[in-house]
Amino acid sequence: MKPVLLLVGALAFIAATTQAGKPPLPYDADNHHYYTIKINNLDITSPQEIASHLGVEYIGQVGELTQYHAFSYPKTTHEKRADVTAFGFDGRQNNSTSHDIVLQRYQQLRESKVFHRELLQRSYNSMNGLSKRGEEQLDSSNSPKALDLHPLGPIDKQVLRRRVKRELAVGVERRYEFVKGEDQPADGMAAHFAIKDPGFRYQWHLHNTRQPGNDINVTGVWEQGITGKGAIVAIIDDGLDANSEDLAVNFNAKGSYDFNDNVAIPLPQLWNDDHGTRCAGEIASAKNDLCGVGVAWDAKVAGIRILSGPITDIQEAEALNYNFQETQIYSCSWGPTDNGIEMAGPTGLLLDAFINGVTKGRNGKGSIYVFATGNGGRDGDNCNFDGYTNSRYTISIGAISRANHHPDYSEACSAQLAVTYSSGDNSWIYTCDRGKRDCYNRHSGTSAAAPIAAAIYALVLEVKPELNWRDMQYLTVYTSVVVDEMDPDWQETSTGRLFNHKYGYGSLDAYAIVELAKRWTSVGPQVAYESPVINVDGDIPSGTDENTGITGEIGLPSVFVVTKEALQAVKFGSLEHVTVTVNIAHHYRGEVEVELRSPDSIISILAPQRPHDNTTTGFEDWTFTTVKHWEEDPVGAWTLTVYDRVNASNTGTFLNWKLGLYGEIENGRLPTPPSLPSPPPPSPTTPASIPEKTGEAGKANGDEGQVQIKISPFIFVMFGGMFVAIGAALFLMYRQRTNPRSMFGSGINDDEEAGQRGGLLGRRGDYEFDELPTHELGDSDDESDADVRQDPDARRIVFDRSNLADSDHEGGAKEAKANQHHQREIASPLSSGEEIGRESSFEDAEEDDEDDEDDDEDDEDDDFRDHPGGAGSKVKGDSWDEFSTLVKSKDAR
Ligand SMILES: *[C@@H]1O[C@H](CO)[C@@H](O)[C@H](O)[C@H]1NC(C)=O
Ligand SMILES: *[C@@H]1O[C@H](CO)[C@@H](O)[C@H](O)[C@H]1NC(C)=O
Ligand SMILES: *[C@@H]1O[C@H](CO)[C@@H](O)[C@H](O)[C@H]1NC(C)=O
Ligand SMILES: *[C@@H]1O[C@H](CO)[C@@H](O)[C@H](O)[C@H]1NC(C)=O
Ligand SMILES: *[C@@H]1O[C@H](CO)[C@@H](O)[C@H](O)[C@H]1NC(C)=O
Repeated sequence: MKPVLLLVGALAFIAATTQAGKPPLPYDADNHHYYTIKINNLDITSPQEIASHLGVEYIGQVGELTQYHAFSYPKTTHEKRADVTAFGFDGRQNNSTSHDIVLQRYQQLRESKVFHRELLQRSYNSMNGLSKRGEEQLDSSNSPKALDLHPLGPIDKQVLRRRVKRELAVGVERRYEFVKGEDQPADGMAAHFAIKDPGFRYQWHLHNTRQPGNDINVTGVWEQGITGKGAIVAIIDDGLDANSEDLAVNFNAKGSYDFNDNVAIPLPQLWNDDHGTRCAGEIASAKNDLCGVGVAWDAKVAGIRILSGPITDIQEAEALNYNFQETQIYSCSWGPTDNGIEMAGPTGLLLDAFINGVTKGRNGKGSIYVFATGNGGRDGDNCNFDGYTNSRYTISIGAISRANHHPDYSEACSAQLAVTYSSGDNSWIYTCDRGKRDCYNRHSGTSAAAPIAAAIYALVLEVKPELNWRDMQYLTVYTSVVVDEMDPDWQETSTGRLFNHKYGYGSLDAYAIVELAKRWTSVGPQVAYESPVINVDGDIPSGTDENTGITGEIGLPSVFVVTKEALQAVKFGSLEHVTVTVNIAHHYRGEVEVELRSPDSIISILAPQRPHDNTTTGFEDWTFTTVKHWEEDPVGAWTLTVYDRVNASNTGTFLNWKLGLYGEIENGRLPTPPSLPSPPPPSPTTPASIPEKTGEAGKANGDEGQVQIKISPFIFVMFGGMFVAIGAALFLMYRQRTNPRSMFGSGINDDEEAGQRGGLLGRRGDYEFDELPTHELGDSDDESDADVRQDPDARRIVFDRSNLADSDHEGGAKEAKANQHHQREIASPLSSGEEIGRESSFEDAEEDDEDDEDDDEDDEDDDFRDHPGGAGSKVKGDSWDEFSTLVKSKDAR
C-alpha cells in the first residue's frame, strides 16, 4: 500500500473514531426532496409526530440547532429526470415550490384547528402538571417569545446553492512558476526564530523588510513564544489537503468534515479545490523545511468542505456549528456572488446557525466567525449587500495591499471592522498549496486576508481562550492601525478613533491585539434597542428636475430620536453595532444611496450606488449594518437619508425603516473580584435579560440574557453580601488606579487610550502600554473563572461574561421529552383512522369552530418576517395568541 493511502487511511480512522458529537445528516439530493421545519415548542409536539402527519421521513436535528429538524420525501422518477436539466451554471435548483405536496400539507397542518386544539390541550396539561413549566418553556426555545409563536414554525424546502470563493480569478498566474515568491532582503529574522522554511523570505505579510512596518507585526508575538498553541481554526472552504507535509502535523481531523462528498476527511477532489488548503497554510503552515510558515504555526486547522458543489442550507448550517465546542474560529473566504447585483444573506435556518454559534459555541463564549468582505470592488459591489459580512455575528475583514493601499477588488462598507494584507500592487500572499510538498505564491483577494485575521485571533486565543465573540470585535476596533492616512474617507468618530469604509478601523496589528487581550476584561452581555417601524412613504427626489431645480442631491431624510429613557429601559450601556432595516421600492436598485447620520453627525454610508444593480424589486426588509458608531452615545436624532442622484427616469419610494442599536449592558464590565464568581444577579424583579421586542434580536438576546442560577437562597444571600463587599472594595481600589471615564469602554486607562489615538495617525510603534492596570482583574481572574467553569456544579454560578444559556444539559431532557410525545400517540382526529398517504386528508378532518376564528396576523407576520425563506407557508386563523395570553396571565399569578 502506498504511504499516501496509508496516511489517508489513518486519518480517516482517526476521524471516524474521534467524530464530533453529532454526525452530519445523511443526504441524498438525487433521490429526495429535503425540508426543514422550525419547531418552536418541542414540549408539545415532536418532529416524529409532524413527520407522521406529513407522510415524510424524519431525518434528524439539523446540526446543533435543537429547534430545526430535517425531513425527506422521495423524488418521483419524473422529478429525478427533470433535475438533470434543472441546474443552471450557478447550481440553483428549479423552483417547484408552488406545486409541492409537502409544503401544502404542512400549511394544512398548521391551519388545522383540530391539531391546534390538541396542541393547546397538551400545553394546558403540561402547564398544570409541572411547576417548572416556565423554565422548560424557555429551555425549549431560542426565544423568550416561545409562547407567542405558533408551535410549528416556518418550513423551508431545501434548494441547492453554491457559494463563491473570494480569490481573484485564476488566469495567467497558473502558468507562473509557483515555487518562488517575490524575494526581499533577509535581515536575520528567520535565523532568530530558527525558521528553516525556504519561503519565509517571500512572506512579506509576516515580516516586510522592503517596506518595514507594512506587515501584521507578528514577530513580537512569536518572540514571546505565542504561536497559536491550543487554538483550533476551521477553514470552511473547498477542502484541506491533509496530506500536505506543511499541514499534516497541524491537521485537526475531529473538527473536519466533507459535506460535499459526505466523508470524514475533506481532501481536495476537483481540479480547482486548492483554495481551502492555501487559506489553511496562511494560518498554520508548519515550521519545517517546506514553503513558509503560518501566522500561528502551532495552531490546529480543521477543514470543512462545502464549496466544491451545490449544498443546501442544512449542510451549511451544520458546517457553521461543526464541532463548535472545540473549534474556536471559523475562517470563511466565501459568500454570495460579488457581482454588484446580488443582495443576499443568511436568513431562517442559517441566521439561527450563526446565533447558535455565538451563543452556544465554545461553551457559551461564542464561535468567532471571520468573513472576507468580498472581491466585487471593481464591479461597484459593497459588503453591506452581503448578509454574511454585514452580520453582527461575524467579523468582516477586507484587504490592503503591500503598499498599504486599497486594492480595487476589496469591497468597502460600513460593516467592515478591519483589513489585513493580501494581493495588490503586484504582490501576492505566499503560502502552501494542495499537494504533498507544493507551495503557492499568488494567493489573492479578500480570500487571503480573512485567514490571516483568523490566525491573528488564534494567537489571541492562545493567550486568552476565555475571550468571548464580542471581545474579539472590541479588540479589533481598539487595536487596528490607520493606514493610507491621506485617504479622504477617514472620519474621526465620537470616540476619537478613525473609521474608513474601505479600511474599517484600519489594519490588524498582531502585537497590539495580543497585548491588549492580555489585560482585557470581558464585555458584559449584549442588549438591544429597536425602534418601531418608522413610516416615510415618500417619493425619492430623482436625478435633476430642470423645471423645479430639485435635485437628487437633496435626498429624502427621515429622523428618529432615541431618548435616554428608552435606552435606560433596556439598560443600554455602550453602543456596538447599529442596524438599519429598510423598505425602499425602486425601478433600478443600484441608483439608491442610503446614508445614516448619528446624533454626533458621524456619517455611515450604508448603500453607495451600485451601477450594475438593475434589480427592479428595490429593498425588501434588507438590513444594513454599521460599526462606525462603536461606543458613540446613541441618544439623540438619527437621520436616515435616501438619495437617488442619477437618472431621473428611474424613480422610487422610500417606504419605511427601523433602527436597531446593539451594545453592552450598562455597567457590564465593572471589575469583578479575583478568584470569585461575580456579584449576584439582580433581584428577581429585574430580569437579567432584556425583554426583546422583535425578531432576530429577541432570539439572540433572549439567549444571551438568561443566566441560570440554581443556588439556595441562603447561600445566595451569604455569598451575595460577601461579593458585594469585596467587589466594592476592589472597585474603589481600581478607581484609584484608573480614570473612571475610560471605564465606560475598555478598562484600559486614559494614557493608553491617548497613546492609541496618538498612534493612529503617527507611525506604527507608537503604542505604549503601561504596566497592566488590571493585573488582578485580568489573567488571574480569568484563570479562576476557567477553573470554576470546569466544575460542573460550580459552573452554574459562574457569571459567564457572554451570559449564555447552558446548552448541554437541556439536550438530553428535551430528547426524552420529544420521545415521550412521540410515544404518547394522541388519538388526534388527524392521525386517527386511516394512514396518511401521499394525499392529505387534513381538510376533511377540519370542523368549524367559531371560537377559533380570531386572527393574529401580527404574530404570524413577525414569525415570517424573520424568515423570508419560509416561502408560502404563511397562514391565518390561528388562535395561538389567545392561548398564550391565557398562559401568561396564569403565569403572572
Ligand atoms: C422548472 O420546472 C417546470 C415544471 O416542471 C418547467 O416547466 C420549467 O421549464 C423548469 N424550469 C427550469 C429553469 O428548468
Ligand atoms: C420559488 O417560487 C416562489 C413563487 O414563485 C417564490 O416565492 C420563492 O421565493 C421561490 N424560491 C426560490 C428559492 O427561488
Ligand atoms: C509592533 O510590535 C513591536 C514589538 O515587536 C512593538 O514594539 C510595536 O509597538 C508594535 N507596533 C504597533 C503599531 O503596535
Ligand atoms: C439587468 O442587466 C442584465 C445584464 O445587463 C440583464 O441580463 C438583465 O435582464 C437586466 N435585468 C433587468 C431586470 O433589467
Ligand atoms: C436611465 O435609465 C434608463 C432605464 O433604465 C436607461 O435606458 C437610460 O439609458 C438611463 N440613462 C442614463 C443617463 O443612465
